[in-house]
Amino acid sequence: MSASKLRVGMIGVGDITMLHAPAYVGCADAELVALCDKSETLLARRSAEWGVPRTTLDFRELLRDPSIDLVEVNTPHHLHRPIVVEALAAGKHVSCQKPMTVTIADAEAMLVAARASQARFRVLENFVFYPAYVRTKELLDAGEIGEVLTIRFKLGTGLFGSRPVPLAAELWHLLESDKGMGQAVFDDGYHKLSLAIHFLGAIGGVKAYIDRTFHYADEPAQLVWRYRDRPAVGVFDIAFTPNLHTRSDYFPADERVEITGTRGQILLSCCTARIVDDPPLVLVRDGRRIAFDDLDTDWQASFTAGIRAFPRAIREGRECSLTGERALEVLRFAFAAILAAKRGREVTPEEVTDAAVAAELVVTDGVASTAGARR
Ligand SMILES: NC(=O)c1ccc[n+]([C@@H]2O[C@H](COP(=O)([O-])OP(=O)(O)OC[C@H]3O[C@@H](n4cnc5c(N)ncnc54)[C@H](O)[C@@H]3O)[C@@H](O)[C@H]2O)c1
Repeated sequence: MSASKLRVGMIGVGDITMLHAPAYVGCADAELVALCDKSETLLARRSAEWGVPRTTLDFRELLRDPSIDLVEVNTPHHLHRPIVVEALAAGKHVSCQKPMTVTIADAEAMLVAARASQARFRVLENFVFYPAYVRTKELLDAGEIGEVLTIRFKLGTGLFGSRPVPLAAELWHLLESDKGMGQAVFDDGYHKLSLAIHFLGAIGGVKAYIDRTFHYADEPAQLVWRYRDRPAVGVFDIAFTPNLHTRSDYFPADERVEITGTRGQILLSCCTARIVDDPPLVLVRDGRRIAFDDLDTDWQASFTAGIRAFPRAIREGRECSLTGERALEVLRFAFAAILAAKRGREVTPEEVTDAAVAAELVVTDGVASTAGARR
């Protein structure tokens, strides 16, 4: 293991980074030493809040600085590619927020840059580090519920019950949604699709129904997929629940997961939000119900663990779990679902192309409904 902590520069210090900064406090492997953003006001605020005096408006200043080992890229996702590619070419380790980007070509360019660089690249997706999901993966791998037959994700996206999300962060999300990159399936859905692969492996094909509410919200939706290498199927059920009080310190997203195997079940009741007081993880097996009540249910825990995992892996000379290749796999899964809804048939991740996406995803005339419904 290398002797000194990795020195981190954060590029983009917007809304989500309020969950990143605490991970560096007391971190054994990295320290946050510089902040970059296009907004001077935000930079000044973050610098004071986090006690990081060094700031810049120009990300290239951080890339030129030999004392910076690792950069986080936390800009809007359609802006990830050029920064990631330049950072890898400059020899910086790069941790980029999910989704990796908005086209397959961008994602492949980022992978090419990563392979050409001595530095490491990963795409941060925090759900795989959420304590209840970490324990679930261990239970699945240990065969605690036998052979998995089905996995069901449920997402309810609310409007209130959490802190207000800053308008600046909402606006570009809406514009991306306008291009067909929906907030539920493509953006927030990334976490659930990532978990679906993390738990059970590669996707064979997906069918989907995706409607639009208020033009921008790509919900209600139902995704159904089959796994490529095991006889299991998955379902992702998404509902827009504007009047449901969705209790969370972060975002009003109510997530549940139910996994059924040949000899048991795993029931997961919370993640970003917690609207029922069930134990975070329940294992049902052999006529017994085992509640895991001792897990940290604060969503922050998933960011702290996820952010720390990268510098730790680098210092120990290991690959970090969330590779760029995995991020592209998740991206293809999301696009396959969106194309499947448009085409009314199964789409495999391999058949996704940017041309198909360009031809079919763009929202026109305010009507993006895959079901033909207008609101
Ligand atoms: N893991 C999660 O649960 C989660 C939740 C929300 C957002 N995200 C992801 O995090 C990323 C950022 O989202 P956000 O909600 O924080 O958005 P945001 O708009 O609040 O923050 C983005 C910041 O990037 C800055 N920026 C843009 N271009 C820049 C450049 N060239 N150089 C420096 N700074 C630049 C903007 O000024 C802004 O402050 C996105 O990829 C998003 O999908 C992840």
